[in-house]
Amino acid sequence: MSAQILTDWDAEKAQGFSKKNIIAKHNLHEREMFSDDGLIELLDRYPREQLGIYTMGKDPTKRQALRAGTAEGLSGADILEAVKHGRIWLNLRKANLALPEYRDLCADMFGDIEAQSPGVKTFKQDMGVLISSPDVQVYYHFDVPLVTLWQVRGVKRVWLYTPKEPFLQDEDIERVVLKETEEEVPFELAFDDSAQIIDLEPGLMATWPQFGPHRIVNHGVMNVSLSCEFQTYMSLVRANAAYANGVYRRNFGMTPSIYGNSGAELHFKAFSARVFKMLKLRKAFEYQIPKTFKIDPGADLGFSEV
Ligand SMILES: [Fe+2]
Repeated sequence: MSAQILTDWDAEKAQGFSKKNIIAKHNLHEREMFSDDGLIELLDRYPREQLGIYTMGKDPTKRQALRAGTAEGLSGADILEAVKHGRIWLNLRKANLALPEYRDLCADMFGDIEAQSPGVKTFKQDMGVLISSPDVQVYYHFDVPLVTLWQVRGVKRVWLYTPKEPFLQDEDIERVVLKETEEEVPFELAFDDSAQIIDLEPGLMATWPQFGPHRIVNHGVMNVSLSCEFQTYMSLVRANAAYANGVYRRNFGMTPSIYGNSGAELHFKAFSARVFKMLKLRKAFEYQIPKTFKIDPGADLGFSEV
């Protein structure tokens, strides 16, 4: 039996898990692995070719300002230095597959969620460690799996929007599930009037319903967060139902919707998706952002042009 991580989880949170926005308390921020020395060691050991390195502008409506970069030949200490004063956003995707202590941490976190939430079973757990500069942002998007976001250092403002129209259209979900684009969905600043806004501080975790759009802006301080994606049986069914809807719309000229489907309808669509995938009716595109900068701890923005 591993240690308790969620410290204020209760029946109401367990009941709403994966269905509602939930803010909960945890104690991961007390761990030494997230100190500067721990992060430097993490950056030194994590496979450098897998490290996601990005920078972006300040306008939340101009996602085309997102750029990717490299960190060849730099030490973990160099990279952390650049993140602390620059405009860098690092994503150490699947850290749980790369490093044993993150594998154990990920298992303990999901083990604790399941232990404290009767009936909840999670699959396909994927822990991304996000280390990011003061004031950087993550543009409006949604994720196909479910997400738990755990804050361990710094503070970030998180806007959570309801996964329904006008914030998210069926076509948006289908485009992403069919891998026709990245997680891009149209955003208007007016959406913010209807968002739940949370300042996520160390020791807080946020989670929201599947496909829930969100965007994030760091406060003026370096942030460390754990973005843990996972699936449940029903989230897999819904993702596959959205895939089937995309095929119905594209190949059969229909106008399906995932909203308001019964469990039986979702299951039928998920079954259809398996058939469509076997028939290879749709082709997925892997879009890679070109890497146009390199991390440079001596530069004001923490990077220089290549
Ligand atoms: Fe996300």
